[in-house]
Amino acid sequence: MRISVIGCGYLGAVHAACMAKLGHDVVGIDVDEQKIAALSNATAPFYEPGLVDLLEEVQLTGSLSFTTDMTAAAGCDVHFICVGTPQKKGENGADVSYVDAALYGILPHLKAGNIVVGKSTVPVGTASRLSAVVTGAEPLAHLVWNPEFLREGHAVADTIRPDRFVYGVDGGAEDHPAVDVLDEVYAAALDSGIPRLVTDHPTAELVKTAANSFLATKISFINAMAEVCEATGADVTQLADAIGMDDRIGRKFLNAGIGFGGGCLPKDIRAFMARAGELGADQALTFLREVDAINMRRRGRVVELARELCGGTLMGQRITVLGAAFKPNSDDVRDSPALSIAAQLQLQGAVVTVTDPKALDNAAKRFPELHYESDLDEAINGADALLLLTEWKAHTDLDPHSVGDLVTSRRMLDGRNILDATKWRSAGWTYRGLGRP
Ligand code: UDX
Repeated sequence: MRISVIGCGYLGAVHAACMAKLGHDVVGIDVDEQKIAALSNATAPFYEPGLVDLLEEVQLTGSLSFTTDMTAAAGCDVHFICVGTPQKKGENGADVSYVDAALYGILPHLKAGNIVVGKSTVPVGTASRLSAVVTGAEPLAHLVWNPEFLREGHAVADTIRPDRFVYGVDGGAEDHPAVDVLDEVYAAALDSGIPRLVTDHPTAELVKTAANSFLATKISFINAMAEVCEATGADVTQLADAIGMDDRIGRKFLNAGIGFGGGCLPKDIRAFMARAGELGADQALTFLREVDAINMRRRGRVVELARELCGGTLMGQRITVLGAAFKPNSDDVRDSPALSIAAQLQLQGAVVTVTDPKALDNAAKRFPELHYESDLDEAINGADALLLLTEWKAHTDLDPHSVGDLVTSRRMLDGRNILDATKWRSAGWTYRGLGRP
């Protein structure tokens, strides 16, 4: 099929490459000339494992191109909208202006039988509104809402082999004409048995926000338990292992630590609360305010623990922060708890060095006042305390004995509860986790 992908950021660039890999003829369109130039040279403007290899592979076959020219959408059967929906400045709601602009950009090129497929995370109600715009321009074209569930760091695999496909169509009927078209797009994946659900527009939009809200709630639940463990001397890691053995609960996403960040969970739960307020259903989601508050409290808690670890004051203490990205295998620092903690430590008088395998350039743009060092040993050298805040393999593989020779004081605050506490303590380190004795 001939496919256009509007918006070539994280979601769109990966989606365009994966659609070409599935055998389609794909054009990626974006207004950002630098991004398009990079992608055209098979260079990803962000770090995502496997993406560059995939871009090279599909571009060699001639099935993927990139352009800033919207007229390239003409002649395509399927148009994916993959633009961002950032949090509005000073408000909780999502800014859907890029989605609207993408849709209106496609309209002049729509033909009978075409489908427009929204993948961006939008406030519920957006799809029905845009569906009317599509059919107003071309009565035989359709809008499908087909949310994306990809995780950064696993984006390629999550796009080619997602857990499920959700198609939100007008009326929600299985025999809606857009269903067959989208089935053809995803034929290879559907043939391998991946489930597909057809819903109406609002349900499809809500599937995405509900899934992210659930994940955020699960993380904040275990972080709330970490607070209780801190008050009682219990161990949140053992608690998570034990409750996670109950199939109904499950161990995944029960890692207590410095909390969630990134470009999705924090903004999506806020946008969901804002939308519920507009719909008069705000009471249903007041718990998400607490989920957000628990999450933000973790950052303050780490600063307090770091102060304790340094003997009661941060003034002049040389602290090395291991990690700037919001999670490993990503260079994304949007709402990164690691970076926010590093900035708070510096504000409170510590001399902070931040190291990260991939995210330092992005981090320096966001917090230029922090000191960054890409060489891990160099960053650790002479430190009074280490804070492991992003669990990159390079950080979790550190050997307490050899690292001990580099630092001034053997103090480790493990913000992800990922190191072997016994091993570090027996190597002479003062080790502190979160929610652990
Ligand atoms: C998330 C959703 O997982 C994905 O389905 C959606 O499409 C986009 O948002 P992503 O933002 O890439 O994906 O990251 P995810 O792996 O979900 O992690 C989010 C944050 O939660 C990270 O900061 C991570 O460190 C933190 N986290 C995760 C925890 O603190 N504890 C856990 O147990 C799991």
